[in-house]
Amino acid sequence: MYVCVCKGITESALREAIYQGADRMRDLKATLGVAEQCGICACHAKQVLDQTLVQKSKLPDFISQSACMCETAA
Ligand code: FES
Repeated sequence: MYVCVCKGITESALREAIYQGADRMRDLKATLGVAEQCGICACHAKQVLDQTLVQKSKLPDFISQSACMCETAA
């Protein structure tokens, strides 16, 4: 499903960029160009970002990275 019609960006393309490390709207703008023209897609793109970050946080690799950061800070 297209999220950004102006740039032809799909929801799956957004999710892939987020799994590759984009964790802010500015990252998605820089990598894909989402919301750079009319801006109508910004709200939906943000929803996809937030949902995907939550899903990503439930992955075992991400949890183990968090554990490493806690060990470093302690
Ligand atoms: S729909 Fe994304 S900038 Fe227009």
